[in-house]
Amino acid sequence: MTLYSRIRPLAFKLPAETAHNVGKRALRTAGSTRPTRAALRYAYRYDHPALAVDRFGTRFPNPVGVAAGFDKNAEVTHGLAALGFGFVEVGTVTPYPQAGNEKPRLFRLREDEAMVNRMGFNGQGMERVKARLEAEGTPDVPIGVNVGKMNTSNEQEALEDYRRVFDRLSPFADYVVVNVSCPNTPDEFEEDSPEHLAAIFETLEAENDAGVPMLVKVGPDSPTQSLQDLVDIVEAFDLDGIVATNTTTTREGLRSPNRKEWGGLSGKPLEDRSTEVVRALASYTDLPIIGVGGVDSAESAYEKIRAGASLVQLYTGFVYNGPSTARELNRGLLTLLRRDGFASIEEAVGADLE
Ligand SMILES: Cc1cc2nc3c(=O)[nH]c(=O)nc-3n(C[C@H](O)[C@H](O)[C@H](O)COP(=O)(O)O)c2cc1C
Repeated sequence: MTLYSRIRPLAFKLPAETAHNVGKRALRTAGSTRPTRAALRYAYRYDHPALAVDRFGTRFPNPVGVAAGFDKNAEVTHGLAALGFGFVEVGTVTPYPQAGNEKPRLFRLREDEAMVNRMGFNGQGMERVKARLEAEGTPDVPIGVNVGKMNTSNEQEALEDYRRVFDRLSPFADYVVVNVSCPNTPDEFEEDSPEHLAAIFETLEAENDAGVPMLVKVGPDSPTQSLQDLVDIVEAFDLDGIVATNTTTTREGLRSPNRKEWGGLSGKPLEDRSTEVVRALASYTDLPIIGVGGVDSAESAYEKIRAGASLVQLYTGFVYNGPSTARELNRGLLTLLRRDGFASIEEAVGADLE
């Protein structure tokens, strides 16, 4: 029995957002000094050269990252790196502070190993995040910055929002993600229409003299044809990759009472759909894909990698499995690679594609 399996029932008695904030505060403390970071690293990090992945001109020490939303304000990047994650995606960061939706807005679906959230881009805004990254530095693993718009912005203002956050935070980022797939922010226009995407990419490209790798994050609920259209735009604008997927608004086969809450569903019930999207994208394009949705074990990470993901991320699986998540996934991935005769993660990427 792990320590977390003893703590979890207590944590799960708290409202989900409170438990998240308590956990984050503990991790912030543990990640804030050299000796405590070293202790975490010693306990949790699992390194092996076969796990390393080179993408976006950067070396990822392992393919298991933390998905956007967990560390919206870059408060625990050092702690997460010390827990053995191969990269951390900060954000979604908006230009100004934003309160998000009314609480409660985060719900556990325990029987389904899932969560529903309708946080609505709550965050401290780009200046606070920038100041923190400057003061505390970035950790020794790659950092992604996920950029978003204010909830009140119209189509034109949204472009300026993305531009401003990109301008402020891209100097700290190993890659930047344009998030146009959040299902629980109020939108007066279609955020992922080809026209709007083209306008965003054009705006950011003009800003990107330093050539920071740029990705777009897609939702799981789009029909196959629109995925194909998306790839066409992404390739036309020379973007560097795709993050697939965000949460889903669908509710199928769920048992937990909280299934009735509105918002984006994450975790186990999303797993197969997001893997399908990864597979569909990987069959149209050679661009790197970061696979996310329902990853909670080495097997589920491996399936996304074999379907074409170069890297994976998780949020809900981390909440359910605790601080040893990255170590267990990485250790398990190495076993799976050896079982199947692959010398490295790189060799396994897309192995299931024809
Ligand atoms: C509470 C919560 C907040 C999230 N916030 C964001 C966000 O701000 N930006 C974003 O791109 N994705 C956000 N996500 C989506 C995750 O990054 C991820 O795409 C999704 O949860 C599927 O992964 P999972 O099944 O491992 O949780 C959030 C997810 C959760 C559960």
